Amino acid sequence: MGLVAEQQNQNAPKQASPLIRIAGVAKSFPTPEGGSVTALEAVDLTVARGEFVSIVGPSGCGKSTLLYMIGGLVEPSSGSIEVGGSRVVGPDPKVGIVFQEFRIFPWKTVRSNVMFGLELQGKGNAAERLAIADRYIEMVGLRGFEDRLPKELSGGMKQRVAIAQTFACDPDVVLMDEPLGSVDALTREKLQDELLRIWRDSGKTIIVVTHSIEEAIYLGQRVVVMAPRPSRVIATYDVHLDHPRTAEMRTAPETAHLRNEIWNLVRGGVT
Ligand SMILES: Nc1ncnc2c1ncn2[C@@H]1O[C@H](COP(=O)(O)OP(=O)(O)OP(=O)(O)O)[C@@H](O)[C@H]1O
Ligand SMILES: [Mg+2]
Repeated sequence: MGLVAEQQNQNAPKQASPLIRIAGVAKSFPTPEGGSVTALEAVDLTVARGEFVSIVGPSGCGKSTLLYMIGGLVEPSSGSIEVGGSRVVGPDPKVGIVFQEFRIFPWKTVRSNVMFGLELQGKGNAAERLAIADRYIEMVGLRGFEDRLPKELSGGMKQRVAIAQTFACDPDVVLMDEPLGSVDALTREKLQDELLRIWRDSGKTIIVVTHSIEEAIYLGQRVVVMAPRPSRVIATYDVHLDHPRTAEMRTAPETAHLRNEIWNLVRGGVT
């Protein structure tokens, strides 16, 4: 196992034709006083097809806003975002989002929630949709809870329903906003491995926002670090961990070294 971390030029493209190209993106929001607040300033980032990228940064630095813009839910104030060579102008079923606050329907069962996106997209017949839903319910460890309502589930279980719902729709790009935030440590490690397995098997392009630097390193091929004031990408680290990841990699000295380096950067300890 080898891990080499190197700080890269954030603008350096990973390959000639990236799947996601974010160029000079800024986002301001109006304030109630009639002014405006700059959430993001000049974000440049490219993501290759099939890449797994983690994003870390302090609360309020614009991570969710960036994901929403890639997903076509929020329009940039300036700059451009392209996915697959086309400019993002609105939501696209090819880009799935797992929201920070796990948006699932309280009146639908686990299975109905997971099937919802498939129904919306008119994918397959009822039996096929059921089979797909149950496969992803199993994947996130909710077998046996198919007929439960969200109010009967813990926060972490609801998050897992949202993850299953997004993956069931088979998007090319999956944007995940702190998807494992309210999952206990043991389940979290299991789900991290599941996510990595799906990623390897499916070839999907995945961007995960996380508050855990350890998780960012364990999951990502690259860790993108964002900073506030002005909110932008301040560094990108390559993580040269072998696949599949192993439990030993979590505690390897090189992992700890990279974690400390990123942590110092996030809290502004390195200039
Ligand atoms: N719809 C909105 N209207 C006004 N301001 C907003 C809106 N959405 C986000 N902001 C502001 O933009 C900034 C970035 O918010 P965002 O939610 O993207 O941060 P974040 O990095 O995801 O934070 P966290 O880690 O806490 O989830 C914050 O200052 C926030 O107050
Ligand atoms: Mg957020």
